[in-house]
Amino acid sequence: MSRIIVTGGAGNIGSALTKSLLEKPEYEVTVVDNLTTGNLNKLPQNHPRLKFIKADVNDNSELSDIMLANRFDYVFHYAAMVGVKRTQENPVGVLKDIDGIKHLLNLSKNTSVKRFFFSSSSEVYGEPVSIPQHEETTPLNSRVPYAVVKNVGEAFCRSFHQEYGLDYTIFRFFNTYGPGQTADFVMTKFIKLALSNEPLTIYGDGSQTRTFCYVEDNIEATIKALKNDLFINDVVNIGGSKIITILDLAKLIIDVTGSKSQIEHLPPLKEGDMTRRQPDNSKMKQILNRDLIGLEEGIQLLLKDESFRSYINA
Ligand SMILES: NC(=O)c1ccc[n+]([C@@H]2O[C@H](COP(=O)([O-])OP(=O)(O)OC[C@H]3O[C@@H](n4cnc5c(N)ncnc54)[C@H](O)[C@@H]3O)[C@@H](O)[C@H]2O)c1
Repeated sequence: MSRIIVTGGAGNIGSALTKSLLEKPEYEVTVVDNLTTGNLNKLPQNHPRLKFIKADVNDNSELSDIMLANRFDYVFHYAAMVGVKRTQENPVGVLKDIDGIKHLLNLSKNTSVKRFFFSSSSEVYGEPVSIPQHEETTPLNSRVPYAVVKNVGEAFCRSFHQEYGLDYTIFRFFNTYGPGQTADFVMTKFIKLALSNEPLTIYGDGSQTRTFCYVEDNIEATIKALKNDLFINDVVNIGGSKIITILDLAKLIIDVTGSKSQIEHLPPLKEGDMTRRQPDNSKMKQILNRDLIGLEEGIQLLLKDESFRSYINA
């Protein structure tokens, strides 16, 4: 039995990871989450191999008690302040996440954790110097505090490995959507608005491009990286590679949901809304060894998901 801690495990990606780990009998999972953007109802209730602890990962004393009492084999550090609006409105608060990363790495080293998995972000590339964005060759151009935190987090992972031999894998997540995502994010926001026939609002002209990854692809890739000992002390982009403009995404969602919504344009955001983003996801594809879930298929999967529908209607 492997003992795993998932910080941020009541969030979108963390809860999907937790559920998937629990489907395999060899994992026991402890979720630590302060429930700021997470929600307990994203997690299985009364599962015999799941423990939930409400705590702030940036508080060292709480984290020490948890890590020392449990002796985990693997750490998935997914807790973070997220969302362009929230992180821009809390430019000092978001930097506190550096404390959590540092404490957790330190405690992982002291409790002989076998590997530290860190959820970094496509934001570390900043305004892209080259497309598609490649883990080794694309320079990191991060400026906004959220991206700087991820960049510093990556540096901490590498330094802890270099100095103390703690193994790590850095996942640079690109836009990942799924039933557990809050309406702070474009996919959920657009679907929610489309289902109620309200206008879909876009910052600027909507020509900014994104790729979208259905959460199942993300989870299968990350669990395979764990199970098959892949990408140890390495960085892996986790994201879809098919580009779409935000305007076309809005049109697609209106079409798929059969909505009467109109599209409205707002002034462009001052910063943090990158014009282009596209991962080189060759490493991820190598892990998955199959095609990724297409965008329209992913939207259909979301619409069929009962937990998503009840969340959207709440
Ligand atoms: N979803 C994406 O598209 C995306 C893209 C890039 C990076 N990421 C990264 O992936 C991770 C998961 O993101 P998500 O989309 O699931 O977001 P989410 O908001 O659904 O999940 C984050 C979780 O962390 C918890 N949390 C936040 N601060 C905490 C703290 N100090 N202590 C304890 N818990 C805390 C929240 O309550 C929430 O449950 C984050 O690290 C995020 O930066 C996500």
